[in-house]
Amino acid sequence: MDRTEERNTDEKKLVGDSAAALVESGMVVGLGTGSTTAFAIQALGRRVDEGLDIQGIPTSYQSLLLAIEWGIPLTSLDQDPVLDIALDGADQIDANLFVIKGGGAAHTNEKIVACSSRRFVVLVDEKKMVDTLVHPVPLEVIPKALELVKRQVMELGGIPRLRMAVRKDGPVITDNGNLVVDADFGDIHDPWKLAKQLSACTGIIEHGIFDNADEVYVGMPDGTVKILKCNR
Ligand code: A5P
Repeated sequence: MDRTEERNTDEKKLVGDSAAALVESGMVVGLGTGSTTAFAIQALGRRVDEGLDIQGIPTSYQSLLLAIEWGIPLTSLDQDPVLDIALDGADQIDANLFVIKGGGAAHTNEKIVACSSRRFVVLVDEKKMVDTLVHPVPLEVIPKALELVKRQVMELGGIPRLRMAVRKDGPVITDNGNLVVDADFGDIHDPWKLAKQLSACTGIIEHGIFDNADEVYVGMPDGTVKILKCNR
C-alpha cells in the first residue's frame, strides 16, 4: 500500500467512525456498500457490543456478510419499510451534492435503501469531491437488453462499456443477477437531466446518479471531517 492509499484509508475510517456516531438506539439503519462504509459498519458493530440497540438493512452481500461478522442485528425492507438513516459511500460528488455510485455494482439496492430512509448520509474522502461530475455512470442492465442499452447510451452521447469481472471470467453479475454497463459521458454538466434520460431507457433497471443525499461527510487530509448539507 503506498502513502496515498494509506492516507485515504485513514480518511475513510475517520468518516466511517463519524457517521456511525449519528446512529442512536432504536434506529433502523441502512448499511451501504464499499470500503468507506465498511468502516462505519465496523464502528456500529463495536457500539452494538457496548449496548447500542439497532437493526441494520444491508445493501449488498458485502454489507450483509460484514454486518453478520460484526454482530449487527438485521431486518428487511419488508419488515421495516422506512429507515431512520442510511449510511453509504460514493464514487464522485459534485458541488451541488449530486452523487455517482455503483463502483461496487450495488447501486440499485443502495438506491432502494437510501430512498426508503428519512436521512441519507454519504461518506467520502476529499478526492471524490469535484466541481463537475465526470465519473462513468454505472447502469444495472437486464442481460437480454445489453445491446439495446448500449445503443440508447450512445444516442445520449455516452460511451458504454460492459463491466468485466476480476478473478472470474466474463462480466460482473450484480447481487440481483444483472449486468453492469459503465457509461462514460465525459463532463456531466446537468446530472439531473441525464438521470431522467437514463431512467427513461428501456432495459436499465437503475443508474448510479443519486440526487437525494441529505448530508455528505468528507474526510479531510488534515484529520477533520467536513459536513456538507444539501440545500437543493
Ligand atoms: C457500491 O456499488 C458503490 O456505490 C460504493 O458505495 C462506492 O463505490 C464507494 O465505494 P468505496 O467506499 O469503496 O470507495
